[in-house]
Amino acid sequence: MNILILHGVNLNMFGKRDPAHYGTATLTDIDAALADLARELGAGLVTFQTNHEGEMVERIHRVPEEDIQAVVINAGAWTHYSYAIADALAILAVPVVEVHMSNVHAREAFRHNSVLAPVCAGSIAGFGVNSYLLGLRAACGMA
Ligand code: DQA
Repeated sequence: MNILILHGVNLNMFGKRDPAHYGTATLTDIDAALADLARELGAGLVTFQTNHEGEMVERIHRVPEEDIQAVVINAGAWTHYSYAIADALAILAVPVVEVHMSNVHAREAFRHNSVLAPVCAGSIAGFGVNSYLLGLRAACGMA
C-alpha cells in the first residue's frame, strides 16, 4: 500500500508562518512524522510539494499510472479557489483525504469553503501536524 502526500502552495514555509495557526514544525518535520507513522502502518509514502498550480495538477495526473492507493492533500490557499486542482482530483479512482493544519472554519470567511472537499472522501482540519497523521491513518484505512 502506497500513499501520496501532496503539499501545496506556501507549505514549504511551515516553521516560518504564523505559529498561532501553524505551529513551529517545518515541512521536513511533518514529512518525518508521516514517514514514522507510515512505517508503523506498513505503508509506503511518496511526498510532493510545489508552489505552482500547474505542477500540482500534473502531479495528480500521474497518479493513475502509479502504484498509489490513496492521496492525502493539503492544498494550502488553493483549497479555497482552485477548480483546476478539484477537477484533477476528480479524475482519480483512489480516495483523497483533505487536511489542514489550522482550523480553517474558525478563521477568515474565505477559508471556510473548500472547492476540493466535494471530490474528497473527507476532510481533517485544526489539529496541526496531527491533521496530517490522522489523514494518513484515514487514507490507509481506505486504501
Ligand atoms: C492551510 C489553510 C489554508 O487556508 C492556508 O491558505 C494555508 C494552510 C492549513 O494547513 O491550515 O496555506 O491549508
